[in-house]
Amino acid sequence: MKTFGELFQTADWKTEKHVPVIDCPDKVKAGELFAVKVTLGKEVAHPNTTAHHIRWISVYFHPEEEKFPSEIGRFEFNAHGESAEGPDKGSVFTHHEVSFSMKTAKPGAIYATALCNIHGLWRSEKELDLA
Ligand SMILES: [Fe+2]
Repeated sequence: MKTFGELFQTADWKTEKHVPVIDCPDKVKAGELFAVKVTLGKEVAHPNTTAHHIRWISVYFHPEEEKFPSEIGRFEFNAHGESAEGPDKGSVFTHHEVSFSMKTAKPGAIYATALCNIHGLWRSEKELDLA
């Protein structure tokens, strides 16, 4: 049996459309808010249809030398063209992209995870230093 962690796939986001891309500064000031954007398909677009879409992105931050990570946010994408007329006949599609702000007193690592409804769990991470 695989561990839960082993179920998360990762790859180079420049060639693999499922990998969450974390956009934020490499260095931030302690205790000052900074902007973070997490999206998928930055280089290779991921479909957004009733049959094939991204369900959610969850973001965590693990402060250096602390035992546990903090959950920063969980973002669900719930409109994928579903309609009484049938799949993809709806007029509303949530795009798999999130923007938020956060602050930290310590350096650490941001972890992003995402679920594709047919291609499973994906992850990526980015180090964050203090300026
Ligand atoms: Fe997919």
